Amino acid sequence: MENLYIRGGNALSGEVEIGGSKNDALAILVGAILVPGITVLRNVPVNTDIYNLLNIFQHMGVKYRFLTATTLELDASQLTTSETPHDLVRQMRASFNILGALMARFGHAEVAMPGGCNIGARPVNFHIEGLRQLGAQFTLEHGVYYGKVDRFLGATINLEFPSAGTTQHLMIAATCAFGTTIIENCAAEPEVVNLAEFLNACGAKIEGAGTPTIVIEGVKTLHPTEFSILPDRMQAGTYAVAAAITRGDVFLKNAVYEHCRPLFAKMLDAGIQIDAEEGGVRVRRSANSILPIDFKTMPHPGFPTDMQPILATMLAVADGTSVVTETIYENRFRYTMELAKMGADIRISGRNAIITGIKRLSGAPVVSPDLRGGAALVVAGLVAEGTTEVSDLYHIDRGYEHFVENLRGLGADIRRLNVKEGSLPCSV
Ligand code: EPU
Repeated sequence: MENLYIRGGNALSGEVEIGGSKNDALAILVGAILVPGITVLRNVPVNTDIYNLLNIFQHMGVKYRFLTATTLELDASQLTTSETPHDLVRQMRASFNILGALMARFGHAEVAMPGGCNIGARPVNFHIEGLRQLGAQFTLEHGVYYGKVDRFLGATINLEFPSAGTTQHLMIAATCAFGTTIIENCAAEPEVVNLAEFLNACGAKIEGAGTPTIVIEGVKTLHPTEFSILPDRMQAGTYAVAAAITRGDVFLKNAVYEHCRPLFAKMLDAGIQIDAEEGGVRVRRSANSILPIDFKTMPHPGFPTDMQPILATMLAVADGTSVVTETIYENRFRYTMELAKMGADIRISGRNAIITGIKRLSGAPVVSPDLRGGAALVVAGLVAEGTTEVSDLYHIDRGYEHFVENLRGLGADIRRLNVKEGSLPCSV
């Protein structure tokens, strides 16, 4: 078992290259199941969620190979089964969208209820209800959905909430449906737009992605294409806050300012300097103190829930009191209990975290509660006095590749060691 050992206090500086987006790649990989041929995807991140999905694909007869470290060739022409390996599917959230993709190809599918980070109830009712409106029928037995449909039929679907996963799932299902599908009150995340662009590059007819209404005119079949995964806005945001909290100066190569705008707007309010430059974004903090700010998570283009733990961590050392409101996931404050071990002054009241900034966090052993909560603890460790030991790294590994190497490249004192080795005094 490995843990991270971080000695805080170094200002980060230099350049970090932002890799491909986990959530974009997962959605597009599932979309690629619709293509009866070879899809080539560039800028694919190599984290455990991606490997897990590729493993599921292998069980279904989809072949893949990496042409370079980040270029993936996927051949879904030999898709042989509409059954999915339940144990693997249960390990992640994005795998659930395989249901609609397989039903579009075979007319039937069986997919287990998905897993993913333990950040809230995360039901799949919007997915199932939307697919039903496209003509599908389902039974749920022992935690597995069995679905069937002759051919999806276009319909108008008004989502109860602009769910990212549901919007992507319904887009995939409706791409080869008979007739026109309209999805109203849909999600507008960059990953939704990029999935639409990928499917369109394969011959789909999707309009309106990025607005509250998407219109999909069903086509008979898709053709192979080559396509690029977006730079990861969550990784960009994590390094941006890491630069800011350490009073550093970091260039985020490939980061797209527009995709990170809701986070950057709040960081600017906190007194951080952020500039779009050619090929990326520069993040600097020259002021001694960080200004307190309030923010509330909302569907895109509101403040992204995934960045809530990361930015809240910066506010734990701000010069005053901030209020953070989490409206998307009821369980996304678990990292605050770990931050409290480092001395943070955070009070949870319902969906609000009231954060009173302190002068200095103090390194301590802490446990990653989930993916972004784990990354937040690493960010805290970068500025804490003494050594912070972060365990349960499997959460972080789901979405941050080369995390330690990248932070070390920026000057952080961080190592990943097996627990015995790390426990030696001053071994880091
Ligand atoms: N929801 C329902 N029923 C549904 C679907 C969603 O009630 O059928 C609720 C959820 O419980 C949540 C809200 O709707 O309260 C929004 O969920 P959404 O469907 O938008 O989230 P998701 O598609 O399951 C993706 C990302 C998450 C990210 C959210 C919100 C992937 C694989 N996951 O999840 O990413 O937090 O959108 O932006 O794309 C992460 O990367 O750390 C992560 C958790």
